[in-house]
Order: sequence, then C-alpha cells, then structure tokens
Amino acid sequence: MLTLGIETSCDETGLSLVDNGQVIAETLASQIEIHSVFGGVVPELASREHLKVLPQLFEILLERSKCSPKDIEVIAVTRGPGLLASLLIGLGFAKGLALSLGKNLIGIDHLLAHLLVTDLEQNLEFPCLGLLVSGGHTHLYLIKSFFEFKLLGKTLDDAIGEAFDKVAKMLNLPYPGGVFIDKLAREGKVDKKMFPRPYIDNTNLDFSFSGIKTAVANYLAMHPELIFPRAEENAILLANQEVKDMCASLVYALVESLKIKIRRALKLAKVKGLVVAGGVACNSVLRQELRILCEENNLKCWIPSPKLCTDNGIMIAYLGEIFAKAGFKHDLSLDAIPRGRTIPWDFKKRT
Ligand code: KG4
Ligand code: ZN
Repeated sequence: MLTLGIETSCDETGLSLVDNGQVIAETLASQIEIHSVFGGVVPELASREHLKVLPQLFEILLERSKCSPKDIEVIAVTRGPGLLASLLIGLGFAKGLALSLGKNLIGIDHLLAHLLVTDLEQNLEFPCLGLLVSGGHTHLYLIKSFFEFKLLGKTLDDAIGEAFDKVAKMLNLPYPGGVFIDKLAREGKVDKKMFPRPYIDNTNLDFSFSGIKTAVANYLAMHPELIFPRAEENAILLANQEVKDMCASLVYALVESLKIKIRRALKLAKVKGLVVAGGVACNSVLRQELRILCEENNLKCWIPSPKLCTDNGIMIAYLGEIFAKAGFKHDLSLDAIPRGRTIPWDFKKRT
C-alpha cells in the first residue's frame, strides 16, 4: 500500500514513500544551519522553511521513486506533538494532496512513530517497554501492539535532549550540542559523584532533568576555565581532559537515571524487550548501557540505526501504512496537536 509520510513537527522536513514495509524513497532537509545562529529552534523560522521546501522535496521524492502522485494510496502526516505552526504546514500539504488525489489521510503520533519504526530494521515483539528520548520528550511506554500502548512515565520538566543541548550551550558548544557532548564524553573518565542522578528518590516512573542543569551550572561557576570562549566548532580538538571528564560524568548521571526508572518499570510489567528511539538514542553510552541492562534481564533490546533515531519521514510513512492496513484513517477535519497535549485516538474506521 504505497504510503507517503510527511514530517514537519520541528526543524527537519522529511518525506518518504513506503510500500509493504519497504522504503521506496526518502528526502530530508535539515534546518540546523538556520537555527544554530540563535542557539535553538525559532518556531516562526521553522514553519516558514517547511512551507518553502515541502513542494520541492515532494518533487525530488517523486523523481527518486519514479512514482507519480496518483500511485500514492495513503497520505500519512505527523499531527503532533510538535511546534503548532510547523505541524500545520505539514497537515495543510497532506490535506491538499489527499483532497486533490482522492486518497486516504492519516494523522500519526510523532513519538510512537519514532519508537515503532524500529520494526523496519529489527522485528519488534510485544509487549515491550518503549523509551522515547528526544529533544522535546522523554516518555516511557508499555507497548502492547502497534495500536495499544500506555504511558508509564514522562519528564516533568526538561527532556533529556534539552538537558544535553542546554549544557552544551553553557559550554559554548555548537547547536544542537548532544552529539558534541557525546563525542567529548567518549574520551572522558566518569566521576560518579560529580553530578546527582536526577529524580530517583521516589517511587514513580517520571523523569526530571532540570536539576542536573543547575548542578552543571554550579560546577561551571566554580570551573569557568572549562567554558569555551566562543561557540566552538573545533571543540572536540580543543577540549582538555577536564571538559571531557565533566561530559562523561554528565552522560553517566543522565543515563543512570534512565536505567533506574527502566528497572523499576520492569518490575511492574512482564515484557519481551525494550525499544529505545528518538534523537538521544544516537548517544553511544546510552546505547551501550541500555543494551547491557537488557542482557542482564534476559530481554531483547531494539535501537534503530542513528539515521532512523532522529526526525525523518520514513517513520511516519512506515507507521501510516501499518495503521492504514488495519483500516484506520482520518478525515479532513484532522487537527494538529502541539507539544504538551495528549494525542487523541480519533481514527475513523475504513468501511
Ligand atoms: O528526535 P530528534 O531528532 O528531534 C526531536 O523530536 O526532538 O532529537 C533531537 C535531540 C537533540 O536534543 C540532540 O542534541 C539530541 O537529540 N542528540 C543527541 C545525540 N544526537 C542527537 N544527544 C546525545 N547524544 C547524541 N549522540
Ligand atoms: Zn522527534
């Protein structure tokens, strides 16, 4: 069932065509260069850029796939959570295509798409735990099937990716900083006592990462020599051992706090494995540590290749096709759901 996937929830415009679970073609345009000047995503610029590049990317996608618009059977689009104006650009484009081609429209939850696209590379087994770690979210789910899931816990403040990016900003590393912290941490030595493991002295499955930011700010106030004098592209080459050790200790504290909550969740739910996705799932320590945790618990561990961890159109097309095959669709009243609001289960059933 040839399915077009459209992703515009944040700072990447992604399009893809998927057929029978196979990627036929994809295109992706990143806005990192535009936003890096401001040290973070500027929503107004993001939506304007999506509007500008979407038609061009669609042309490129058709050319690469050798498909014509009328071959497309389903149009899947990210409906949220994300930046409202950016989501609306994707939705408008999708609705226009669905209307003009007379094809089915389906709105997809960006967070579940991140997790479930893992099935494209590795066969997921249910029930499983799903940990979504991105720039905007840190969510822990119990996933019973492609269509049945329960949110067990989430961050109460910053997402883990935000913690990475904000610390990177304090150090004057380029935006988005997660990948720079990862590279520096790989060459550092962990001091387990340098930073607290955030929000573990409780019995719940929620996360909180804002405290660790304060701990890093306090540490840097005492060690200002660790801050790069200006936004530094060559940070990896210029960094001294102390900065690397600080990054390694930070990553340790962040990943440990995830591990503690995952172990807690495993006591509550009998599952076959853990799936981890979202941009922060590119982090090398996180990947290694969560694989070890799964091995220790005789569980499978599914983490997509880094290219599929960050935002892309493939995940929307992949999940869109699965939902469409199961008979789900939306009509043209489909609305966008901004960050912070729950995505409603308001599918219509195809008759
Ligand atoms: O999923 P994603 O592409 O966009 C959102 O939906 O948020 O995630 C982006 C986040 C950013 O915070 C970025 O710094 C982080 O993923 N990230 C990493 C790494 N690569 C990307 N964080 C830690 N280590 C990495 N290697
Ligand atoms: Zn994302």
